[in-house]
Parts: sequence; structure tokens; C-alpha cells
Amino acid sequence: MPETFQTPQGTFDVLPPDSRAYETLVARFAARVGAAGYGLVISPMFEDVGVFRRVGESTDVVRKEMYDFFDKGKPPRHLALRPEGTASVVRAFVQHRPRVPWKTWYAAPSFRYERAQAGRYRQHHQLGVEVLGTEDPLLDVEVIALLGGFYADVGLRQVALHLNSLGDDTCRPAYRAELEAFLAERADRLCDEHRERFRDNPLRVLDCKRPACLEATADAPLQVDRLCGPCTAHFTAVRGGLDALGVAFTLDKRLVRGLDYYTRTTFEFVGEALESAQNGVGGGGRYDRLAEDLGGPPTPGIGFGTGIERIRLAAAAEDVDLTGPAAVDVFVVDTTGGLAALQLTHELRAAGIGADRAWDGRSFKAQFKAADRSGARVAVVVGDDEAARGVVALKPLRGGPQIEVPADEMLQRVRTMIDDAH
Ligand code: HAM
Repeated sequence: MPETFQTPQGTFDVLPPDSRAYETLVARFAARVGAAGYGLVISPMFEDVGVFRRVGESTDVVRKEMYDFFDKGKPPRHLALRPEGTASVVRAFVQHRPRVPWKTWYAAPSFRYERAQAGRYRQHHQLGVEVLGTEDPLLDVEVIALLGGFYADVGLRQVALHLNSLGDDTCRPAYRAELEAFLAERADRLCDEHRERFRDNPLRVLDCKRPACLEATADAPLQVDRLCGPCTAHFTAVRGGLDALGVAFTLDKRLVRGLDYYTRTTFEFVGEALESAQNGVGGGGRYDRLAEDLGGPPTPGIGFGTGIERIRLAAAAEDVDLTGPAAVDVFVVDTTGGLAALQLTHELRAAGIGADRAWDGRSFKAQFKAADRSGARVAVVVGDDEAARGVVALKPLRGGPQIEVPADEMLQRVRTMIDDAH
């Protein structure tokens, strides 16, 4: 017996009809961001490992979870599968220097060697936007509102926006030193990992969900209370813009997120119907230094990523159906041998009507079962009798009387029936 194989741990196949939810989400996202002036970026699934190291040497994503490897070059190149979308887009910006503001979007898989569990996979799929080249705080508002609007558009109601500011090169260093000193005094009370590592990036400790760290940092100093003048002004404008659009948010002073490149505005949409361990449905923020860190000119940036799998979990928890309507509206049932079905589906598809059929000369009954499974609304039925008389029967599959029409009126009559059924 030949060996059989399964998907690698932490990965999964997306199969029909489940995959319809993916199609719906990508299509709705593309429509929403496209209509707001964002253009699609497709970048390689792997990059020089250095691109992703800029995400932050102190982050789990870089330290523990990167799928890095050497290729067959002479000498071999050190590459890594994309663990997140932002670094690739900023690398592309630095390489191609497009005009700013550069407003982009993507729908792409990301790879992280995570401990696989519900909502946390080794390959997940992100919808995201990145904008390079403007510091305008009202852009932060546009980006946040785009994501919030997308969730509302797909039917999610229980996603709450958490907002924070992480300061910039002016106010962060002093804050970081203050936090480090605070943590040093309490190092013995931190969790095992952070007792050793808190100096690598003290802010990371605020993101630690272990009880020891939560307790030890309950009264830690927080960046948003120590912003410099320009960061305060920026954050005030962002909050004012959100208020102007009626976008509700919670100021979450401990929000630091899991990547090191963030400056100023950071945000996360939390799924309130989800288990708290994996309840981040989407998140993002500014990364005003990243372009420079990747060798480009100083260029501010902001964006977000939202995991399709997390959106699906949130939708399931809220009982929201993401599947969307079937793409097949008509099913052709042909008992004359199959050529009629070939011609009729061809004709329907050419007219822009989704159509399918059965194969292998199946029985009338089996063809009708397939028609039901397809999600079609109308069956076009041709038997020997209909063929001899130059007619087809049209049967609504969700109730209603069957009618017979001349074959050359089929398209027009089918269209009316589909419109009535919608
Ligand atoms: P992130 O928070 O690491 O940010 O990931 C963004 C979203 O991807 C999360 O909110 C979650 O929905 C999903 N996600 C992340 N890891 C996993 C996983 N292992 N399994 C399932 N879903 C996952 C970023 O990646 C940033 N690039 C976002 C960004 C864009 N910031 C600025 N621009």
C-alpha cells in the first residue's frame, strides 16, 4: 500500500462548500478597499530573512516562529516564509519607490511556527492594507474605519475596537527606560520567560497574559500617559476623527501588540464572542520607522491585518453565515444523452448565468439530487419528448410550478425566474 499523507500540523485544507466563505470575504474586502482607492499588491511568499527580522528581534514571530531555510543557491541564500504582510509591502515600497501616498491591500497566507490550537495556525490567511507616505492622523481614522466597516459589512456585531498610542522616537526611549527600571524592581515577580528577558523589550511584558506578569505590572507606567507634544496632538486628532465618524473605541493603555515596529497609533479589534486566548480578529497601527529600518527614505506608514480564520470563528460564535449565495443559478437535467446539457450550460454561461450539470448519463432522479446539492434555483429539464418538440421544462427548485417554454426563449425565461427567486 502506498503511504498516505495528511496536511502538516497546524494547517488545513479549505474545501467547498466551506471555501465559499473565503471567497465571500476576499471579494467583499477587495470591493471595499478598492472603492477607497487601495491597489492590490502581490509579493513573494518568501523573502530574505532580513526583511522579516525588522518585525522585531524580541518578538515571538521572529525569535521562535519563523519558517526560515537556505535555498539551493551557491552560496545558499537565507530566506523565510512570510510570517506577516507588512514587512513585505514596505520592502516592496523601498525597492520600487512608488509615489506617495501609496495605498495598498493584500489577501495572502502567512506562516508562523505556532503551537497549533483553535484560532492559531501555522498557515493563516490575512486580508490587510498598508499605506506609506503620510503622517496625517485622519488617515489612521480612515484605515481603522475601513476595517470596522468591513466587519459590519460581513455581519459581525460583537467586535470591539481597542486603541492606544505607543509614542515615537522622541517619547518612547524615556518611557522605555522608566518601564525597564519599574520591571527591574519587580523582576522576581515576573513570569519565567520575562524574568530573564524583560530587558530585550520591556513593552513586551505588558502584552504577557500570564498571571504573574499581569499582577506585577498592574500599576506599571504606560506610554500613552507619557506622550510627547506631537504624539499627543496626533492621538487627539485620531480620537477626534473616530468620534466624528461615530466609531466607538476603548482606550486600552496596555495594548502593545506582538510586533516591534509600531509607533503612535495601535489598535486591535477584539471578538467579544470568542475565547479570550485567541480573540484578536484584526489589528494594526503605525510603523513610521520601518521604511528607514529597511534601508528606505524616512516614510511613515500604517496598516492592518485581519485573519480570515479568526473572522470565521467570530462569525460562527455570533451565528453569522458568511457562505454567500451559490454561484450556480441553473442546473441542467438532461436525459437525452448529455449533448443537450453541454449546449445549454454553454449557452447559459455565455450569457453570464451560473450553470452546472451532471455527468456520466446519471438517472433523472440522480440528476435532480445533484441539482438540489448545487444550490441552483432553477432546473432546465430536457428529455427525449422535450427535445423532439423543441421545448425545455423550467422547474423552480425552491417551490413553484414547472413551466414549458420554447427552447429559443429559455435564456429570457430563466433570467426572469432567477430574478424572481432572488
Ligand atoms: P498580527 O496581529 O500579528 O499583525 O496579525 C494580524 C491578524 O492575523 C490577527 O489579528 C489574527 O486575526 C491573524 N493571525 C495572526 N496570527 C495567526 C495565527 N497563527 N493563526 C490564525 N490567525 C492569525 C500583523 O500581522 C500585522 N502585519 C498587522 C499590521 C498591518 N500592522 C500594520 N499593518
